[in-house]
Amino acid sequence: MHLIQLTTPSGDTEISVGELLSSGLHGLEPEPVLLVDEQVQSFYSELFSPFRCITIPSGEQHKTLQTVEGICRELVQMEVDRSSLLVGVGGGLATDIAGFVASTYLREVRFGFISSTLLGQVDASIGGKNGVNLDGYKNMIGTIRQPSFVWCDLSLLNTLPHKEYVAGIAEVIKYGVIRDRDFLHYLKDHMSALLTLDGDVLEKVVTTSVSVKVNIVQQDEKESDLRKLLNFGHTIGHAIERDKKVLHGEAVATGMVLAARLSNTLGLLSASGVEMIEELVGLAGLPVRMDMDPDVLYQNIRKDKKKSGDLVHFVLLEELGHAMIRPIPLTELNHMLHDLC
Ligand code: GLY
Repeated sequence: MHLIQLTTPSGDTEISVGELLSSGLHGLEPEPVLLVDEQVQSFYSELFSPFRCITIPSGEQHKTLQTVEGICRELVQMEVDRSSLLVGVGGGLATDIAGFVASTYLREVRFGFISSTLLGQVDASIGGKNGVNLDGYKNMIGTIRQPSFVWCDLSLLNTLPHKEYVAGIAEVIKYGVIRDRDFLHYLKDHMSALLTLDGDVLEKVVTTSVSVKVNIVQQDEKESDLRKLLNFGHTIGHAIERDKKVLHGEAVATGMVLAARLSNTLGLLSASGVEMIEELVGLAGLPVRMDMDPDVLYQNIRKDKKKSGDLVHFVLLEELGHAMIRPIPLTELNHMLHDLC
């Protein structure tokens, strides 16, 4: 098992990567109240039955203040107080909701996460961003509070639908692209093993991804500058997600390819750099391209909460392993999107 420590001004997290769930739950002090994703609950109901449990409904449409309110009511009924420990169990959706509940119920109750999806383990559960959507706008309401612990239990990935597992690989590729060129070469050599959930490869991939994110969050917890690099591929990715019924990771994969091509058009990333990203995305079985209307894409980017005025702070690549932020005027971006799509 690997342990990674995240230290920030607002709190510390001990992140464990390995197989922990069955033995670990009974060792927690005080006895936790589990906030569990309904699908994870159905797979592991026996494991959770000794504990007080609240079910979090699965599906992005439930990532709302109403769901938060319902969970808080159940906590009141259970007489959960400030000495309690809340543990969110599930993918990014469940841990985002659980973290937001724990950060606001009684103004904050100690909390931890057991992360059950690849995307959750390498991204959503790490770094303290918790929140819900509002009127279709993603993560509009939220907090940044660090959980006391995150368990990335690799055995939980065995029950994850393969398509969802593959979607998580997009965020893994992202870490190599923005910060760690050697990791990209490792991924290229080990992609088939990663796709069959080889234990050693998975452990190395999750540990490396978490370490890259921890390094960034420790330097910029509140996303003043450096943490923005984690949004590589996400400006276009979120715009795709608004338009198409695809998984977040699938949209981010195509978003990364387009952001790489944009970097090349602007005289930054080399053509071979773009090819490497396209190759990795393709090897993972993620979409290198999607049929998209550039006007729809542009209108959706205009609605992004990370836009400021007439500028979009776009994450681009100088070279593989080196990302940078460049403000791009919306009108200029509109022309570029027409050329790219
Ligand atoms: N998922 C991006 C971040 O945590 O900043």
